Amino acid sequence: MKIALITGASGDIGSSVAKKLAEDGWSLYLHYHSNKEKINSIIREFIEKYPKQEFFSVQANLEQDDAIDRLKEQIFSLNAIVFSHGITEYGLLNELASEKMDQLWKMHVKIPILITQAFQNKIHQDNQGRIVFISSVYGEMGSSNEVFYSTVKGAQIAFVRAYSKEVASWGITVNAVSPGAVNTHMNQHYTEMEITNLLDDIPIGRMGRPEEISFWVKQILKKESSYMTGQVLTVSGGWLK
Ligand SMILES: NC(=O)c1ccc[n+]([C@@H]2O[C@H](COP(=O)([O-])OP(=O)(O)OC[C@H]3O[C@@H](n4cnc5c(N)ncnc54)[C@H](OP(=O)(O)O)[C@@H]3O)[C@@H](O)[C@H]2O)c1
Repeated sequence: MKIALITGASGDIGSSVAKKLAEDGWSLYLHYHSNKEKINSIIREFIEKYPKQEFFSVQANLEQDDAIDRLKEQIFSLNAIVFSHGITEYGLLNELASEKMDQLWKMHVKIPILITQAFQNKIHQDNQGRIVFISSVYGEMGSSNEVFYSTVKGAQIAFVRAYSKEVASWGITVNAVSPGAVNTHMNQHYTEMEITNLLDDIPIGRMGRPEEISFWVKQILKKESSYMTGQVLTVSGGWLK
């Protein structure tokens, strides 16, 4: 049985990753922070559709260091991790409080790295472990008004590049999928005018759909993707590239 942890499986991109991996035969640990109902409903659906696979919910606040112990208590064998949780913060850097920086840093960088550390030995056991970060084009190109978010997304990419080298000989691949603007809960605050301006800048002329991101995560988790590591796969409709 191959089993993956998806953080933020209650989110729009994370739940789409869950659907694609379940279709592909994966058993799953589905992490959520507050949206227990959504995870329960996903699990009910999966148990009915895929009775031979196993699905577990795991709850943790990934802003807090004790999240690592919570996950360790709930997770036993593990072949892959997809980091798909997160929040952003809009506004000028001058107005960003130090506490907000700590929150974004912990959630996007420190806690995922601690989780990776905690589960490295389990993941390397079958010699084809997979780690995927859902980063962002902002982590590659940067954005005003989301400077600190761009910074932590860029740090995820730096981690992917470095850590992939350290664990390559154990068959663990470490990659990032870097979405552009995807139509999810995270972007619901955009006004109509902001969306029009944004779409003018995206060569494909529309926002992405979660399944256009999760498709690539599914490919990276396949056995046949074993020779790709340390890479950033940009899926942005041509935006910011
Ligand atoms: N949407 C985009 O345009 C876009 C573009 C580039 C990159 N991304 C990245 O894609 C990832 C997923 O975003 P999304 O668009 O799918 O957003 P979303 O639908 O808002 O999902 C956010 C997820 O993060 C979880 N989360 C929030 N606070 C948390 C906390 N304190 N501890 C643990 N989990 C927490 C949420 O859990 P609960 O709902 O259970 O609280 C939810 O599962 C993020 O890393 C984001 O930066 C998104």
